[in-house]
Amino acid sequence: METRRKLFIETYGCQMNFSDSQIVGSIMTDNNFETTNNIAEADLIFVNTCSIRDNAEKRVRARLQEYKRYKKLKPGLIIGVLGCMAERLKSQLMEEEKMVDVIVGPDAYRDLPRLLELAEGGQKAINVILSADETYADINPVRLDSNGVSAFISIMRGCENFCSYCVVPFTRGKERSRDPETIVNEAIDLFNTGYREVTLLGQNVNSYKSDDGTGFARLIERVALINPKLRVRFATSHPKDLSEELLKIMAAYPNICRSIHLPVQSGSDRMLKLMNRKYDRQWYMGRIEAIRSILPGCALSTDIITGFSSESEQDHQDTLGLMKWAAYDYAFMFKYSERPGTIAEKKYKDDISEEVKSQRLKEIIDLQQELSYRSNLADVGKTFEVLIESFSKKSGKELSGRTSQNKVVVFPKQDFKPGDYAEVKITACTSATLRGEAVIKPLNLL
Ligand code: SAH
Ligand code: SF4
Ligand code: F3S
Repeated sequence: METRRKLFIETYGCQMNFSDSQIVGSIMTDNNFETTNNIAEADLIFVNTCSIRDNAEKRVRARLQEYKRYKKLKPGLIIGVLGCMAERLKSQLMEEEKMVDVIVGPDAYRDLPRLLELAEGGQKAINVILSADETYADINPVRLDSNGVSAFISIMRGCENFCSYCVVPFTRGKERSRDPETIVNEAIDLFNTGYREVTLLGQNVNSYKSDDGTGFARLIERVALINPKLRVRFATSHPKDLSEELLKIMAAYPNICRSIHLPVQSGSDRMLKLMNRKYDRQWYMGRIEAIRSILPGCALSTDIITGFSSESEQDHQDTLGLMKWAAYDYAFMFKYSERPGTIAEKKYKDDISEEVKSQRLKEIIDLQQELSYRSNLADVGKTFEVLIESFSKKSGKELSGRTSQNKVVVFPKQDFKPGDYAEVKITACTSATLRGEAVIKPLNLL
C-alpha cells in the first residue's frame, strides 16, 4: 500500500472554522493524506485562520514565522493558509509572508487537491472564489480532536447582516443553507456511532432556510426527534431572528438544550444603530422576556464589544445596566478592533483610546464574573442531568460534563464514563465551574 503523506492542521477562530477544518481533513484523507498531531512529521501544514480582530491575525502571522523553521528542516514541506485571513488578504498575504505556498478561501476547499499539485510543482497556488451555494453538504467531516460525545454540524454558511464593525460578510460571503436531509442524516450517523450531543452551527444559525422552505425551528425539531438521548444545541443566533416558534419548539423537546447565546454587542441604542445591528435595546429586552416566559430556567449568554466608535461613558453604562438586567450566565467580551474594508472603517473613526477601551473592558469582565458567580451559586443544592464529556483535566478520578444550561460540572467518577448521562447534585461552585456528586447509580440508557 502506498504510504499516506501527513497533514498537520491548526485552527483559529470560531466553531465554524473548526468545523471547516474537519471538512478539509476529509477532502485530504480522500487524497492520500492522513492527519497528524505531530507538526515535526508533517509534509503539509495548513493553518485555518480568523480575521475577526487584529490580534487574531497577529497570532497567525507569528505562527507562520515558526513554520519557517520546519520548512528549513524539510525543504519539500508545503504551507497553506486557509479561512478568513486567506479570503481577506488574498495574494497580498503571499507577498507579505514568503513561506506561504497555498492560499484557499472558505468556499474553495474542494479545489485543494489541484492547488496542492500546483504547489508541489513549485508554483504558488491560490483560490479565494466565494460561492453562492457551496455548503459541503456531501462531505463527511473527519472528526478531529473529538471527544466522541459532542460534535458540530454546519447547517448554513455566510452572513449578509453587515454589522458595521464586522469582517465576516466579506470573508464568508453570501448566506446559504444546507439541505435538511443531509443534516438530519449526519446527526443520525453521529448518534449511531455513540455521539450524544450535536451543535448546529452557522454565523446566523436561526435564519436558516432551505430551498424546500424548511426554517430553523422545523429543522431543530427534526434533529431533536432522532432520539431523546441526543442533545441538540445551536450557535450563534441573531436576536432579530429569534422567533416565538423556535422558543416553543425548544420548550416541547427537553433534549434541545436550555441555553441560548444571544449576542447583544452593546446596551446603548445609539451604538446599536451605528453598529447596524437591526434591533434596539427595547426589542432585545423583549426577546429575553420571551425566553424567560417560554423557557424558564434557560441559560443566557452574549457577546459584547466595548469601545466602538464614539462610545461615551453613558453608552458604556447602558451596556453594564443591560448586563445586570439580563443577568447573563456567561459572556464573550471584546475590545473593538477596526477591520479594514468594513463599513465602520469607512464611515466611523476608531476614536476611543486603548486606555479607555481597556478600562471599560475590565469593568465589563468584572461585572460578568460576578454575574456568572451568582448564577452558579443559585445552582448549588439543585440536581441537573449532566452529559459526561471527558475525564477531568486535573484528575483521572473525576469526570467533567455539562448541564443542559451549558455549565461545566466536575464530579467523582464512580462507575460513569464519557457519553453517559448522570444526575448530579451541585455542592459547590466557582464563577467558572460547578462541583457535585452523582445521586444515582449509572443506568444503562440504551
Ligand atoms: N455571527 C455572530 C458572531 C460572529 S463574530 C453574531 O452575529 O453574533 C463573534 C463576535 O466577535 C461578535 O459577536 C462580536 O462580539 C465580536 N466581533 C466581531 N467583529 C469585531 C470587531 N471588529 N472588534 C471586536 N469584536 C468583534
Ligand atoms: Fe458579523 Fe453581524 Fe454577521 Fe455576526 S451577524 S457575523 S457580527 S455581520
Ligand atoms: Fe473568524 Fe472567520 Fe469565524 S473571521 S470568527 S474564523 S467566520
